[in-house]
Amino acid sequence: MGSIRFDKVDKVFGPNTGGVKVLDNINLEIGEREFVAIVGPSGCGKTTCLRMAAGFEAPSAGLVSVSGRPVTAPGPDRAVVFQQFALFPWKTVRQNIELGLRNKKLPTGERADLVAGALKLMNLEGHAEAFPHQLSGGMQQRVAIARAYVLDPEVLLMDEPFGALDAQTRVVMQEELVRLARVNPRTVLFITHAVEEAVYLADRVAVMTRRPCRIKEVLDIRKIRQAENWDKHARIEDVMDLESFVHLRTQIWKSLREEKVANVV
Ligand SMILES: Nc1ncnc2c1ncn2[C@@H]1O[C@H](COP(=O)(O)OP(=O)(O)O)[C@@H](O)[C@H]1O
Ligand SMILES: [Mg+2]
Repeated sequence: MGSIRFDKVDKVFGPNTGGVKVLDNINLEIGEREFVAIVGPSGCGKTTCLRMAAGFEAPSAGLVSVSGRPVTAPGPDRAVVFQQFALFPWKTVRQNIELGLRNKKLPTGERADLVAGALKLMNLEGHAEAFPHQLSGGMQQRVAIARAYVLDPEVLLMDEPFGALDAQTRVVMQEELVRLARVNPRTVLFITHAVEEAVYLADRVAVMTRRPCRIKEVLDIRKIRQAENWDKHARIEDVMDLESFVHLRTQIWKSLREEKVANVV
């Protein structure tokens, strides 16, 4: 349960008006409870991949499936977290998180318990009755993540979720997400253009080319993280200083830079 598979996926926008091929033969399999990050040049089609897994967009060719079932529409097995927190400003933190459960018929007590659990998970217990505008960006994104987790989805789809946060808050959220991934592992497709973030968070990193976008290479980070014992370092900056980390980061940077250069020529 919870695997994601892209099988020979193409995406063409506006096929009736000449068409722009955005994705070209994407093949990627994300295993159960695996955390895969996709990095790639801006506009290459990362969000489009995520939207197809979410069921907001259909492939032009090929198949996207989740847990072995073809994706045809959004569903409660998949929760999405966007860069813009997408909270309802007129609802409290508690009510925003509760919205995650709106399609589930649950007894009131059970619903309250789930919301309480999500508030606790994201350290939001003191802010349950606050409105989004009373919270910092980091706190608002915690609410968005809590709303995703309250459903207990098999799959989390995150599209540059920390992109709108300042650098310090971003680091805290990255550490928080690693903690969550240990406590409550889920299958995660994580889109970012921050290379360090991808290497720090993911089990594998897929690097995409410019348009029409293909997967250029997939790096196995988990193998190196385990071999070099990154987890013994509690702080993100200590991990990022490790030679093995720097090596991976540089490799991905070079790979992406080739795409940028090729784009200009
Ligand atoms: N609904 C759409 N109609 C037409 N073109 C689109 C649509 N959605 C995305 N695109 C185009 O597809 C390309 C990839 O978009 P996107 O997946 O958002 O890229 P990324 O997330 O990698 O920055 C862009 O050139 C974008 O303009
Ligand atoms: Mg995008």
